[in-house]
Amino acid sequence: MRYYIGADLGTSALKLLLVDTEGNIVNTVTKSYDVCFPNPGWSEQNPEDWWNALVCGIKELVKNIDKSSVGGIGVGGQMHGLVILDENDDVIRPAILWNDGRTAKETAYLNEVIGQQKLAQLTGNIAFAGFTAPKILWVKENEPENFKKISKIMLPKDYINYKLTGVFSMDFSDASGTLLLDVENKCWSKEMVDICGIDISLLPTLYESYDKTGDIKTEILNELGLEGEVTVVAGAGDNAAAAIGTGTVTDGKCNISLGTSGTFFVSSEKYANLSNNAIHSFCHANGEYHVMGCILSAASCNKWLCDDILKTDDYSSEQALITDDMLGRNDVYFLPYLMGERSPINDTDARGTLIGMRLDTTRQDIVQAVLEGVAFAVKDNLEVAKEAGVTVSRSTLCGGGGKSPLWRKIIANVLNIPIDIPSAEEGPGFGGAVLAMIGDGVYEDVAACAEKFVSVKGTVLPDSETVARYEERYEKYKKLYPSLKDVFKSLK
Ligand code: XUL
Repeated sequence: MRYYIGADLGTSALKLLLVDTEGNIVNTVTKSYDVCFPNPGWSEQNPEDWWNALVCGIKELVKNIDKSSVGGIGVGGQMHGLVILDENDDVIRPAILWNDGRTAKETAYLNEVIGQQKLAQLTGNIAFAGFTAPKILWVKENEPENFKKISKIMLPKDYINYKLTGVFSMDFSDASGTLLLDVENKCWSKEMVDICGIDISLLPTLYESYDKTGDIKTEILNELGLEGEVTVVAGAGDNAAAAIGTGTVTDGKCNISLGTSGTFFVSSEKYANLSNNAIHSFCHANGEYHVMGCILSAASCNKWLCDDILKTDDYSSEQALITDDMLGRNDVYFLPYLMGERSPINDTDARGTLIGMRLDTTRQDIVQAVLEGVAFAVKDNLEVAKEAGVTVSRSTLCGGGGKSPLWRKIIANVLNIPIDIPSAEEGPGFGGAVLAMIGDGVYEDVAACAEKFVSVKGTVLPDSETVARYEERYEKYKKLYPSLKDVFKSLK
């Protein structure tokens, strides 16, 4: 039997899967690491922590199998994070992550001075604070000594791939979120590279996600406890990798993910020239394209409320008292902007807000408001997608938050679409393993794998009365951010 390793390089942990060629998951290992918040709204991690997690994790993952039976590895990684190496390949500073909001000034410069129209023409996208290009400008302005030392610029999963193979690579799906890629033509934008004041030689070679970039180096194989030739593929951004595991690989299919971030992802055969750029137009891991909206805090809002405020890890008991008849009847509203917000509002100053409480407000009302606030924020993205001509008639749901039966119902009713629940939902790691199988020649393409491996175990349907109640609620929710925008700015 041949096995493939799929790695999900997440924000809170590295999740490793050992998958056989029939798509069965035979072992999983999770290794957690810390996120560091050195200033309010900043978010950093040490690339060495990711690498150590990978080395320890793989040793554990493969300990009961024949060491020469692993055919390949594919990584689906947290997107947009800036990793910079010096000429000795040492990490210059901690990685600046996807949900880091320090680049308000650089983002405004790109959108207002270079201009959104120009950016959209060069890259297919406008600047968002979490994207990589504003971070490069931030380092240039604030850490000139570090900027001078840069010899390689990469994204989180590319650091892992570089350590594994010595090949300096990046795939198109992840490269799309740098704002340096000409997404439509799948090449680095020379003009964007100039705008960032860097040399194009600092950027990796571009690949399709399923392309083999190399084999694991011999000395690393020994360290991992593996033998033989182990293919490494370019891998993908975590959302594109997760989309493979939910079958979101054919034109018009939608997947919603409720992880640390929340994303709304629609695959598209052709490059999507969006009439508004409030959501992203990116390359997909199947060689095609997708559009995506991303909210910075999704399941993390519920985690924050339960872990940090209510001091409980029993999320299902907190949700158990919220019955179907209560849906759409809550007078408390929550804006989920705990890390500022990406799309559609693109505002690093926005803050989490609970509003509408009275003396009779209960703990459950607040728990419900948090789940609903996240659903409304996803709906904000769906609405701008609709304005740009993207139609969504149903969606799969994945990520930690998607395991909550209550949250599934809230999403189905707030968005007013059927929500399909995938049978086995293993997120970006499974997508990574699939990409490795394709790169190693086991399967032809992503579509063939999705056809073979993906199925749906149930569907949550919207209920017309609940939908009507939520529509009314959403109208009120929509007024909150514009009313508070200036207040948020003054809270800094
Ligand atoms: C997508 C995004 C997040 C991260 C989370 O644009 O920033 O979903 O990829 O890991």
